[in-house]
Amino acid sequence: MEILSTPQGDFELSRFPIRSKETLRAWDAADEYLIKVLHEEQLLTSDSNVLILNDSFGALSCSFSATRPVVVSDSFIAYQGLLENLQRNNIDQNNIEFRDSLREYGEVDQPYNLVLLKITKSLAQLEDQLHRIRPHIDKNTRIIASGMVKGIHNSTLQLFESIIGTTTTSLARKKARLIFSQFNPELTPPQNSYPKTYTLESTDYKILNHANVFSRERLDIGTRFLIENLPVSDHYQDIVDLGCGNGIVGLMAASANPAATINFVDESYMAVASAKENFTKAFPDREANFYATDCLKGILPSSCDLILNNPPFHQQNAIGDFIAVQMFKESFIALKPGGELWVIGNRHLGYHVKLKRLFGNCITVASNKKFVILKAIKN
Ligand SMILES: C[S@@+](CC[C@H](N)C(=O)[O-])C[C@H]1O[C@@H](n2cnc3c(N)ncnc32)[C@H](O)[C@@H]1O
Repeated sequence: MEILSTPQGDFELSRFPIRSKETLRAWDAADEYLIKVLHEEQLLTSDSNVLILNDSFGALSCSFSATRPVVVSDSFIAYQGLLENLQRNNIDQNNIEFRDSLREYGEVDQPYNLVLLKITKSLAQLEDQLHRIRPHIDKNTRIIASGMVKGIHNSTLQLFESIIGTTTTSLARKKARLIFSQFNPELTPPQNSYPKTYTLESTDYKILNHANVFSRERLDIGTRFLIENLPVSDHYQDIVDLGCGNGIVGLMAASANPAATINFVDESYMAVASAKENFTKAFPDREANFYATDCLKGILPSSCDLILNNPPFHQQNAIGDFIAVQMFKESFIALKPGGELWVIGNRHLGYHVKLKRLFGNCITVASNKKFVILKAIKN
């Protein structure tokens, strides 16, 4: 556990979920820079009306909780991290109003005084967020974004210029930078490009993708290989699309297995909403379940016949196979005896070693130059 020292006090903060041998902190230099400048320029008062976006694990929300901010995120994991860090620091959860990324950001006619935005990797998400912010600000609003220098490009600043107004940046400090944007009421911003829709090749399915969804412009080549090789069986009653993104895998599994119930799971609220919209449009009369959760938390042990998984390579800014491994572990628990986990991955990722260790078996059901599809059975 590490301590973030701020003018508002010291906060004990952890990432979520807590991992043994964690090497990363729950905040970064961009959070520290933003907290420092707000204090130096006395931009926060007790009656500030504050909106915080993309706070990773609650560093900003804990520091500014006295202003009772509205906190917007697309990540279930970030939300859980925030809740745990509030509790750890004895901050009343009611001081924060959490809103997921698809909810209205604020109330009509109550513009924010201060909007604090952490820059994420996704320009698409930034574009969508700036459009959603615009109705909730006026010329008195201070809009300050913070990010690491390597994540702030001309294209980032151009989005602020075209959707909010005149935009400047600070000097870099510890490889972090701030962006200041001034609302221009005269500006006519271009239309929000999100959500985006494409037609799934060889089908009539129109696939809707909210801004923060994986492969939102077109079918991912790994996903394509998985849906070309989906299993079919009368034994599958409960199928899980784990890390569902826009839900294409679950949708095609539903089409191939007409009697099965499909459970769509993702930690991104935009992914779950996209999957829900896509499934409901394709199968208006068919029941399905949709969960925003971390891996398979909330799914009953020994309840699933088949889990389909195209695992992610990163969580927030941490890259690696640790989420894939967590997904495999939780799949083992969620599967019925005899249940199957099907995983697609790049050949070089070595998922078969991990699956064999966890399940005691693993076979390759299909492969091409780039990908393998692996099957592990819970015996
Ligand atoms: C490689 S994408 C696959 C998306 C979709 N299944 C496809 O093939 O197009 C991995 C997905 O896992 C989700 N994800 C990342 N971490 C997760 C977690 N801890 N729990 C659940 N889903 C997670 C991401 O949001 C993303 O949608």
